[in-house]
Amino acid sequence: MGLRVLIIGGGGREHALCWAAASSPQVEKVYCAPGNAGIADVATVVAIKDSDTKGLLEFARRERIDLTIVGPEGPLVAGLVDEFKGAKLRVFGPSAAAARLEGSKVFAKEFMRRYHIPTAPFSVFDDPAQASQFIRSADGPLVVKADGLAAGKGVIVCSDAESALAAVQTIMVERVFGDAGARVIVEKRLTGTELSVMAVSDGQRIAILIPARDYKAAMDGDSGPNTGGMGAYAPALQFDDPLLDEITEAVLKPTVMGMAAEGNPYTGVLYAGMMITDAGPRVLEYNCRFGDPETQVVLPLLKTDLIDVIGAALAGQLHMEPLDWHDEVCVCVILVSDGYPGRYETGQPMSGPLKTSHNNILRFHAGTAMRDDVMVTAGGRVVGICGRAPSHEGAVAAAYQQVEKVQFKGMRYRTDIGLRQGQTSLPRRTRPERRAKV
Ligand code: AMP
Ligand code: GLY
Repeated sequence: MGLRVLIIGGGGREHALCWAAASSPQVEKVYCAPGNAGIADVATVVAIKDSDTKGLLEFARRERIDLTIVGPEGPLVAGLVDEFKGAKLRVFGPSAAAARLEGSKVFAKEFMRRYHIPTAPFSVFDDPAQASQFIRSADGPLVVKADGLAAGKGVIVCSDAESALAAVQTIMVERVFGDAGARVIVEKRLTGTELSVMAVSDGQRIAILIPARDYKAAMDGDSGPNTGGMGAYAPALQFDDPLLDEITEAVLKPTVMGMAAEGNPYTGVLYAGMMITDAGPRVLEYNCRFGDPETQVVLPLLKTDLIDVIGAALAGQLHMEPLDWHDEVCVCVILVSDGYPGRYETGQPMSGPLKTSHNNILRFHAGTAMRDDVMVTAGGRVVGICGRAPSHEGAVAAAYQQVEKVQFKGMRYRTDIGLRQGQTSLPRRTRPERRAKV
């Protein structure tokens, strides 16, 4: 009998997870809650919200789910994994205590300070007057961050003291992110190239996933407001690059060791959002889950069965699983509704090729729904079109060729996904053999 798998969430990341799980020969059935119209192509979609812990538990028991994989940070920080484990259900993701690495930026920064993990210098404030006083006396550009979860919007990168003071007002006084803004971090603004490094952890050991780059800004040339992600590509760094060793030794290993030492072993995907500065790699933030859209370009390159990797992590035996990768490049362009990340319309009928997979193309849906047998838009980020090819240029071309075949009213996308930021600090080399070090 094959495994019955439940994926929690309903975005592009979860579509990629469902696709990877459904591709595993060990898997008999994949469910996704709440899923979306595209996910229905590879999994059975169940209408239970990711915040409905009780409903999800009941479903997992009733359907005899063998393995649950949690996509978004909300349910992880809220303790869904602890509830599932309490009910003796097998679940992949960190406990609420371990998910604090993402759930509280103050916890994360103080943790990094305790373990000498390189990150921007920072101060913590729970009083807006003190935060403002600090900003007035500080030199150089700053970043102001709400402590708690703010749907990816709680970080305000400031060009001068005035905008930092305004950020304190927005976060702490107006409380636009609610209680997430009760405390803020004010930290030094770093410059360099961003890199997303994810690793699967079994609590003690890690298996590194191929590094990716995501494009957060809404418009070409990295201009406009930050979004949940407008595209991504992988690899952004090769496994044999000394920079990856440095990140592994200075960041990933001490993070997992520190969490274990503090009695909160980290099992799940640990995501380090890095800035590669002239002075070396620095952690911008941790996420306690698979990145989105990074997962949409990383999983298509993973040759090892994802279910084996997760099984090894849950068994505390990650060293048994050296990961194999396809020697290819994957590029993902996200199609969004005009206006995103601000106000946008939904319910627009979609046409063109929208099935999950065809040859070297994967289409991971985020905001899509079915209305009277017609697929319509249902969110800001609508669908990620991923192209795989042996070369970087080939993958860019494959993705954009397919992008042009999709149509819906107000469709918008960046035209520069795949162009490398600066194109200097992240050397790209082609290597025939790629094996992750564990
Ligand atoms: P987050 O929402 O925590 O993923 O952060 C969003 C983005 O803010 C990051 O991807 C960076 O682009 C930027 N950011 C965060 N911290 C810093 C920093 N200290 N210096 C410069 N940019 C930063
Ligand atoms: N791509 C950034 C994130 O997943 O938060």
